[in-house]
Amino acid sequence: MFTENTEQTVGKFKVDNAKMTADNVDVFYGDKQAIFDVSLDLGQNEVLSMIGPSGCGKSTFLRCLNRMNDTIEICKMTGDIKLEGLDIYKGGLNPVQLRARVGMVFQKPNPFPKSIYDNVAYGPRIHGLVNRRSELDEIVQTALEKASLWNEVKDRLDQPATGMSGGQQQRLCIARAIAVSPEVILMDEPCSALDPIATAKIEELIAELSQNYSIAIVTHSMQQAARVSNRTAYFHLGKLIEVGKTQDIFTSPRHKLTEDYITGRFG
Ligand SMILES: Nc1ncnc2c1ncn2[C@@H]1O[C@H](COP(=O)(O)OP(=O)(O)O)[C@@H](O)[C@H]1O
Ligand SMILES: [Mg+2]
Repeated sequence: MFTENTEQTVGKFKVDNAKMTADNVDVFYGDKQAIFDVSLDLGQNEVLSMIGPSGCGKSTFLRCLNRMNDTIEICKMTGDIKLEGLDIYKGGLNPVQLRARVGMVFQKPNPFPKSIYDNVAYGPRIHGLVNRRSELDEIVQTALEKASLWNEVKDRLDQPATGMSGGQQQRLCIARAIAVSPEVILMDEPCSALDPIATAKIEELIAELSQNYSIAIVTHSMQQAARVSNRTAYFHLGKLIEVGKTQDIFTSPRHKLTEDYITGRFG
């Protein structure tokens, strides 16, 4: 068994069919380092879960993947992150273009104070993806269908999104992310504000979406990671300790720190 003294990430952090690659990523908030030399790929059509104790850097790393940390003044990143081989920081994509390809769903559902329709139509409108109302109607419907929400909202598309239940709001945020046809969806604890039934719906949805998208999900729940993901990455104090097939991570971890965490001795 590997121990604390092991410098390298244990397990296969590179994949053959990578959608995104991260190499030697360090992240600092001012002088404080939050991520230490993390290399990790996200495969095509895979669901990768990121787990680990609170404060270990899961959200920080996830936010690097669509330059969400750019909005935090003191946050600095070094290393290379690529989307289909294109460097997302130095490759000429601006953050808005990047975020259309790498969408994000947050912990707390954050619909805009607009109608259900306008929430989903927002991205296609700002990216100028459509000319005619009928095309926009179709995109909105398709995105709501993919987010398993269409049947619940089709008769009240003009009503405020804030009047929906929490679970519906989160599926709406997923629809909003999907509406611009992203390739990757990042989710940061998307179910932590939801009840078990709404959580189960989101988990089903993740399984469906993984047929067409690459998904990276941060979760507090090991059960959730076990249910939804193909591969699991375990973070500890800003380091990526171990990566592997989800089943292997939960049944036969190779690093002592991973074992301590999944058996409940830590975190
Ligand atoms: N905006 C920020 N400013 C300063 N420090 C931050 C900020 N966000 C996160 N951190 C620090 O970075 C470390 C990793 O945090 P985070 O990525 O949120 O961890 P996790 O998502 O695993 O709980 C923590 O020590 C946290 O205090
Ligand atoms: Mg977090």
